[in-house]
Amino acid sequence: METKLLLPTQANIEIVGKALRDGLLVGIPTETVYGLAANALNGNSVSEIFKAKGRPSDNPLIVHISDISQIQKFDLVSEIPENVKKLMRSFWPGPLTIIMKKNCVPDEVTAGLDTVAIRFPSHKITQKIISSANIPLAAPSANTSGKPSPTTAMHVFHDMNGKIPYIVDGGICEVGVESTVITVAEDVPVLLRPGGISIAQLENVIGHVEIADAVLNQLKDGETAQSPGMKYKHYAPDTHIILIRASDEKFAEYVNSQGATALCYDEDVKNLTVRCYSYGKKGDYASQANRIFDVLRQMDNDGVKLAYGRCPESSGDAMAVYNRLIRAAGFEVIELA
Ligand code: TXA
Ligand code: MG
Repeated sequence: METKLLLPTQANIEIVGKALRDGLLVGIPTETVYGLAANALNGNSVSEIFKAKGRPSDNPLIVHISDISQIQKFDLVSEIPENVKKLMRSFWPGPLTIIMKKNCVPDEVTAGLDTVAIRFPSHKITQKIISSANIPLAAPSANTSGKPSPTTAMHVFHDMNGKIPYIVDGGICEVGVESTVITVAEDVPVLLRPGGISIAQLENVIGHVEIADAVLNQLKDGETAQSPGMKYKHYAPDTHIILIRASDEKFAEYVNSQGATALCYDEDVKNLTVRCYSYGKKGDYASQANRIFDVLRQMDNDGVKLAYGRCPESSGDAMAVYNRLIRAAGFEVIELA
C-alpha cells in the first residue's frame, strides 16, 4: 500500500474524514503525539490498528472526540460523574484522557474492559478531522508498538510506511509526550500515566489523586497493572540507554571517562567531551517533553549503541518525562552519590 503524506487543507481533511468513515486507518497530528486513528464504532477497523502497530490485543485504545456532546450522541459512557464534569470543564479540550464506565463501545477498543478512555484534543486539525469524519476516533500513538512515540509526520511515515493509506502532516506536536491518563472509575481518582496535565493541576480541581504504582516503578512479576499498557515495554529505542542520577559535575565526569554518547540537558554540552544529544533545558520540563521522543529516534537513526542519560526528577512537573525516560532505559539507573 502506498502511504500518502497530506497537508491539512480543507480538501484533504474531507478526504481523510471519508476514509475514516469507510473504515481505513489515518495517521493524525494531535497536540501531544501523532495518533493512528480509526472509526471507534467499527470493531473491524479498530483491529487493523493493532495489526499495523503490532500492539498486544489486551491493551485498550483512547476514543477521541471533537465536542463533549458526542459522548451522549454516540452513547459512549453509562454516566458522567460530577468530578469528571469538573475535569472536563477545566482541561478539555486538551491533553487529558479520562477513563469512565463504558456503554456502546466495541470490545476491540476497550480490550474487553468495562471502562473506556476518552479524550478531547485541543489541536485544531485533530478537531477538524474528527468533525469531518463525524464519528469518534480510536487512536493510540502512531508508533510501532514498544518504540518511542511519533511527534512529527515523518516519524509516523518511518513506522507506518506501506501499512496505512494516509498521514496528515500537522507539524511538530507541541506537548511532545502523550496525554495524562486518569481513572475515576473507582472512588479515589488514580493517575495512570503522567502527561501534558500535571498531577498538581488535577488536584487543584478534584482534590487528592493517587499515583498508580507502575507510573514510577517497574511492575513486579505477576503484578497486575491498573492500566494494561503499563505492563508492556515502552518508548524503547534500539540504543541501549542507562540513566545516571548525579550532579552536573559527577554526570560530566562519569560520561567523559566512559567515552560513550550522552543524552543530556542543553547546559551539559559545554562540560562534555563525548557526542551529545540534548533533550531540553535543565528544569524546563515543557522543552524536555517537546524534544525527548525526537531525540530518542535521532539516536536510532545515527546508529548509537549506548548512551548515558541524565535522570530527571521523578516528581512534580518532571514526572511525565521521567516516566518516559525510565522506560526507554528499561529502568536501568546508576546512582552517583
Ligand atoms: O496523547 C495521547 O493520549 C495519544 C494521542 C494520539 O491522543 N494517544 C495515546 O494512546 O497515547 P496509547 O494507546 O498509546 O496510550 C493509551 C494508554 C495505554 O497505556 C492504555 O493501556 C491506557 O491508555 N488505556 C486505554 N483505555 C484504558 C482503560 N479503559 N483502562 C485503563 N487504561 C486504559
Ligand atoms: Mg503509545
